[in-house]
Amino acid sequence: MNYFNYQDDHLCCESVPVARIAEEVGTPFYLYSAATLTRHFQAMDDAFADLPHLTCFAVKACANLAVLNIFASLGGGADIVSGGELYRAIKAGMAPGRIVYSGVGKTAAEIEMAIKAGILMFNVESSQELDTIQAVATALGGTAPISLRVNPDVDPKTHAYISTGLAKNKFGVPMETAAALYRQAASMPNIVIKGLSCHIGSQLTEMSPFLESLRKMKAFMARLEAAGIKISYLDLGGGLGIRYDDEDPPHPAAYAAAIKAELGDTNRTLVLEPGRVIVGNAGILVTRVLYTKANQLKKFIVVDAGMNDLGRPSLYGAFHAIQPVHRTTMATAKADLVGPICETGDFLARDRELPLAKAGDLLAIMSAGAYGFSMSSNYNSRPRVAEVLVNGQHFQVIRTRETYETLVQGESIPVFPENDRPLA
Ligand code: LLP
Repeated sequence: MNYFNYQDDHLCCESVPVARIAEEVGTPFYLYSAATLTRHFQAMDDAFADLPHLTCFAVKACANLAVLNIFASLGGGADIVSGGELYRAIKAGMAPGRIVYSGVGKTAAEIEMAIKAGILMFNVESSQELDTIQAVATALGGTAPISLRVNPDVDPKTHAYISTGLAKNKFGVPMETAAALYRQAASMPNIVIKGLSCHIGSQLTEMSPFLESLRKMKAFMARLEAAGIKISYLDLGGGLGIRYDDEDPPHPAAYAAAIKAELGDTNRTLVLEPGRVIVGNAGILVTRVLYTKANQLKKFIVVDAGMNDLGRPSLYGAFHAIQPVHRTTMATAKADLVGPICETGDFLARDRELPLAKAGDLLAIMSAGAYGFSMSSNYNSRPRVAEVLVNGQHFQVIRTRETYETLVQGESIPVFPENDRPLA
């Protein structure tokens, strides 16, 4: 459930009409509902309330400080994948002891920053990464907490680009070699083994892959403990899907119930890394129609948001519902909703029955809170859009629209000495 609803045919975010925000902020902009963010975080967190657990929001899904701060204030932690995300999480008020660090390519500088910050654990993805962590911890004269991210080789039945737990994916350590790597880690003087982790993919709409992975993790954990390696934290990753169109993913409560039934009694702390299920339906992208046009084959609605603002339709063929901000008895027709980017792949909806909006109308691109703004770019030299947060009757810009000045910030036209030029 979310708080984007029509009141007298005007789309509102909580109690604020979306059109009013558009008047003040201009378009396009991302719009988040604080009540929805809170509700979705708590749905996941409460579902595991009877077990020791930590809900570490996957920062990559939506990294704005204001959004992270809401989860920090609800007792959440963060799943990070870069030094930049660590910086954001801490700046937003996340306790370092509630931060887990995943990703296949952590640099020595990022590892140093995370050890100094005092994060809960690194989810280590290779033996060379483990060596680097040991070396950095030694240089700092301290220890580094780790878990190994294993690759359980489970098919998550999702889009190929966002499946991560198959042997052919770059993520994690195969279970066959992970036991040896744990033994190696146990012998390293500056490494402290904390946990075992996995993450098999994103936008999963069925329980079976999660449970298959958990079964393998449980069996593996038993082997480790028999070998005298103590696992205090079991990190199950994220991946629970949401409804964009007609999907029917399990509710967090059902997800948790199934996990707990499979897990049985445990004295370990569960770590969860949800991203999309918390923010996906808590955010929309609001855009204005610039032009409409038609040719002998198709109708096009040209809007002021493009693939640089929301890349998911172009990248994954993802579906996002399109709703008019002012609901009228508008006719619908099969059309493409396209942006201003100079690429045929620049579409937000293709061959879809859409409201036949006219120039000046506002449209809402729904379910855009996860991997929307966080994946946006400056392609075609377009300043990134504003982000706005609604709380009840109030709204606030939580990231200002970029300007042409910020667009070229850090760039310079070099002046080389004349004689350095290559000879003609
Ligand atoms: N943990 C790890 C280690 C991850 O790699 C991810 C997502 C998550 C947690 C959070 O997964 P979630 O709960 O959000 O499914 N850009 C794509 C999604 C990429 C997901 C990458 N990893 C999209 O727009 O669909």
